[in-house]
Amino acid sequence: MSEHTLSSPNGTITVQVGLTSEGQPFYSVAFRSQSIIKPSLLGFEFKDRPAIKENLEVIDSKTRSFREDWEMPWGEQRKVHSAYNELVLHLKEQTQAKRKMDLIFRLFDDGIGFRYRFPEQAATDELLVVEEVTEFNLSGDHSCCWQPGDWDSYEHLYHQTAFSEIDAISLRNHPNLKSSYIPENAVNTPVTMETKQGLFLSFHEAAIYDYPGITLRIHGDELKMTTALVGSDRLKARAKVQIPFQTPWRTIQIAESAGDLIESPLLLNLNEPNILGNIPYFQPMKYIGIWWEMHIGKSTWDIAGSQDMSTFIDGKKKATGHGATTENALRYIDFAADNGIKGLLVEGWNTGWEQWIHSTDREGVFDFMTPYPDYDFDKVVAYARKRGVEMIMHHETSAAPRTYEKQMHEAFDFLKKHGMNSVKTGYVGKIIPTGEYHHGQWMVNHYQYVLEEAAKKQIAINAHEPIMDTGKRRTYPNAISREGLRGQEFNAWATDGGNPPDHIAKIAFTRMLAGPIDFTPGVFNIKFNEYKKGNQVNTTLCHQLALYVVIYSPVQMVCDLPEHYLEGGKIHPAFQFIKEVGVDWEQTKVLDGKIGDYVVIARQERISGNWFVGGISDENERTLTVDFSFLNKGEMYLLRSYQDGENAHWDLNPESYTIIDLEVTNTSQIDIPVAAGGGFAMSIMPKS
Ligand code: NOJ
Ligand code: CA
Repeated sequence: MSEHTLSSPNGTITVQVGLTSEGQPFYSVAFRSQSIIKPSLLGFEFKDRPAIKENLEVIDSKTRSFREDWEMPWGEQRKVHSAYNELVLHLKEQTQAKRKMDLIFRLFDDGIGFRYRFPEQAATDELLVVEEVTEFNLSGDHSCCWQPGDWDSYEHLYHQTAFSEIDAISLRNHPNLKSSYIPENAVNTPVTMETKQGLFLSFHEAAIYDYPGITLRIHGDELKMTTALVGSDRLKARAKVQIPFQTPWRTIQIAESAGDLIESPLLLNLNEPNILGNIPYFQPMKYIGIWWEMHIGKSTWDIAGSQDMSTFIDGKKKATGHGATTENALRYIDFAADNGIKGLLVEGWNTGWEQWIHSTDREGVFDFMTPYPDYDFDKVVAYARKRGVEMIMHHETSAAPRTYEKQMHEAFDFLKKHGMNSVKTGYVGKIIPTGEYHHGQWMVNHYQYVLEEAAKKQIAINAHEPIMDTGKRRTYPNAISREGLRGQEFNAWATDGGNPPDHIAKIAFTRMLAGPIDFTPGVFNIKFNEYKKGNQVNTTLCHQLALYVVIYSPVQMVCDLPEHYLEGGKIHPAFQFIKEVGVDWEQTKVLDGKIGDYVVIARQERISGNWFVGGISDENERTLTVDFSFLNKGEMYLLRSYQDGENAHWDLNPESYTIIDLEVTNTSQIDIPVAAGGGFAMSIMPKS
């Protein structure tokens, strides 16, 4: 037995790493001497080769301390502080094979990361990973916020249960998912837990390269999780790695309040620094889109009108009319230009949509250069330029990455030629070829390839149906945002009632810990009865406003139809908040929050220095208190608060709002009544 102990810079987190009497590595984690992870084994199983688990010895160990301050080109905060203590254990088999494996632990004050490294060695060059044997032995039956471990989708609701009650299997066969594969009782990450002692933990990974995404297998009775990597039917294994190789970091965020999890930059600090330098071609922005109108069934993506999501999903109402026409695009451009919205996304502009959903072989269906005949690409682009609106490209790959890789280079040149700088990509459907999965190694490599090729051409990527964010935006700041959750679109067509009022109060403490979210907030016409009687958004209008602050993304959609932002023929008074709210932040402070119940976040805009506060509640009404001590001492501020109207309710009266003007200082405290499913949004500017 040999044991090594390491502490975080302020000494609150300690890790012990050692070898069992059989020579198998293990680690344990404590926070202020409270056990977080009980001794848990580490190792690997391979195809056609013996496992690396036992008979190891420590041949060398090194520790070092590291501190750094760095700046985000865009982000939730400008300045980031990083400080960790590191332990590297060099292990070697005592058996004949004498294979080598290193374990690297980094301890920060807000959590830990650890990874495996296989150094260059004579005997081994390529390994087929059958299982990464990383255990997480929990110290209790924590209360968990989780979603099923799905190899193909993160578009599930989050559930709150005791750890021992996690049941992913019962969530198979989701009616609204085109691709979903839940092979066993496991969870996707980030998965967040609250211990009985009031500590908050979140498990995920950082810096994923050339390796599958993680799910965590649940051993309910044993209060234990083990890595269950997303596999590949082609490999008949989970991953194929070339030595030298290192895994992503396995991460555990540890905090004394739920809000501290949101403020923690652990994942970013475990990624390598920016290798692209400044990327002046991308500026954070709000954007509108020819988008929601297809989801609610007002119009269609394809010109023939056969493939709209409404007919596809419930088969009742059939939308007619192509959304992406020249005329409609010009209308959206005018709306954006007149109302201070910088970008416009147009979906359904290119050929292929008439085939994609029903086509079993989606290879070669989409064309990323050819517009439909009723969409005058040049005219739209010229008009957008004239009116100062930035066009955003859309590439729905229909999960046929080989077709995309063939066309991508030319398609990138095409959009750059037309003055565009960013692409929303999409991967709806089962991955072609069959046997690969959205979160497997093959797709991780595809997403990375797209990112790198885009970076060469100065293009920013916002991927839908992506691999989960692991903080790579630090290294590749052209990875601006992504979906990877049950977005707003589910409210438009899901047959299971859409996203419940507490959806984002869970997302904020789980999915959002991974990175920016293209959730597409901003629905004002909550019931859209004109189009879909059976569906609605399950929040109030003010909750939608709050999402511009609560959810972090450097691209925030203003997703409703232009005509829905009018009240009495004029721009809706609450639209002022959307116009004003920042998208790029100097700093972020989580003021309050309880997982699944409510969250209140304050963010200060870069350059202007103005503050914005967003607060949301679940299905319960409540009073949320904002303490303004984050403001500068001695300064007077003008505050405008957009709040739920007196009888507002997410279902019974969702669009009722009131606007209140006040003056505040850093000693002010205000109680805000929040409706069931409600929220509030504040803009705060210095009184000059
Ligand atoms: C799913 C995406 O999440 C959504 O935003 C998009 O409109 C459709 N796919 C079509 O590409
Ligand atoms: Ca989606």
